[in-house]
Amino acid sequence: MYFDPLPKRNRSDLFDREGELAQFSNALTYSSLIVILGLRRTGKTSFMNVALSESESPHIILDMRGLSYNPSQAELVRKMESAFNRINRKWFSMIGSAIKRVKGVSILGNSISLDWSKDGVDLAGLFDEVNSWAEANDKRFLVAFDEIQLIRGEKNIPRLFAHIFDYCQNVCLVVTGSEMGLLFNFLGFENPGSPLYGRHYTEIKMRNFEHDESEEFLSTGFNQVGIAPQRDVIEYAIENLDGVVGWLTLFGTRCRDRNEMSKEVVDDVVVEGGKLARAEALKIVQYSARYAVVLNYLAKTKKSTWSQIKSILEVHENRRLPNPTISDILNKLVKTGLVEKDGGYSIPDRLLERGILENPLPED
Ligand SMILES: Nc1ncnc2c1ncn2[C@@H]1O[C@H](COP(=O)(O)OP(=O)(O)OP(=O)(O)O)[C@@H](O)[C@H]1O
Ligand SMILES: [Mg+2]
Repeated sequence: MYFDPLPKRNRSDLFDREGELAQFSNALTYSSLIVILGLRRTGKTSFMNVALSESESPHIILDMRGLSYNPSQAELVRKMESAFNRINRKWFSMIGSAIKRVKGVSILGNSISLDWSKDGVDLAGLFDEVNSWAEANDKRFLVAFDEIQLIRGEKNIPRLFAHIFDYCQNVCLVVTGSEMGLLFNFLGFENPGSPLYGRHYTEIKMRNFEHDESEEFLSTGFNQVGIAPQRDVIEYAIENLDGVVGWLTLFGTRCRDRNEMSKEVVDDVVVEGGKLARAEALKIVQYSARYAVVLNYLAKTKKSTWSQIKSILEVHENRRLPNPTISDILNKLVKTGLVEKDGGYSIPDRLLERGILENPLPED
């Protein structure tokens, strides 16, 4: 069923993403890192779940939400431990016996325990053993991190990743992230000081649905829950929800709760989506109020040139600003995906645009 507010796990509940699934399974044959990118509610977690289970490879999933920005080694090891304990039972005993001799690993009946004290488990050593097991069994072992950018200050993960890249050919890392620029900053692909600098990775983007895809998604979804589709409401939803699968699903779920569809439900979802998107934008505004000035301005003008943005920032600060400062602000906004550069600058997410118009971001 499509209209379920939780992330999908089964292929049969996932609409389309055929091309992306094929790209994923192809990348599994050669790539050591697969990055699943998309703004909020574009279906990253669902896609990751389904791609992992369709791969039929042994895998673990670490949900990085709920970790503090600067987690301790102990917190990470605990996440790792619970991920290993959720591994498909088909693999559990084989993996268990492969890693049982690693320092800090103990197997107690049906569960794996990792010593999270300071001199506890050696994660690099752990993945070396997992890798040897995978190699001997002609498999690739997948290690997935959902929302990895949430843990900023942590250096141990990039180091562990670099170790896996260099020594564990049969381990493949999968990460998802919504704050694109931060994801890349965290992983440090563009930072020569990072242990991951210059490594190859495969990028899979969660694109928004085209008009016809949204239509098929909604019609099929309403059929599944036994609500007769009303053409005008469906058209209104497609127009306003911008092909973002999470909003289309929320709209469907709400209609399912009321057992009818209406334009008011679309309006509610637009407001809710706008609030969530605005809350995401607020995170970058904390770094500098200049981002707020630019985003508020773009929400009003829809599209502006580099020089217009420079002027509005100068007016706001009542002084001249050097060109590189303006470029830096715009580049960062483009990198996070909040702004798009396409013959001028604009906000590609229409719900965000509306969210900002309704409640402008704080400019000081
Ligand atoms: N391809 C799809 N087919 C059907 N439903 C989907 C699909 N992708 C996502 N969904 C639904 O959309 C909603 C959002 O999906 P999901 O949680 O996977 O997105 P996300 O990008 O991980 O969101 P967040 O940014 O909050 O982490 C969920 O209700 C999920 O069931
Ligand atoms: Mg998610």
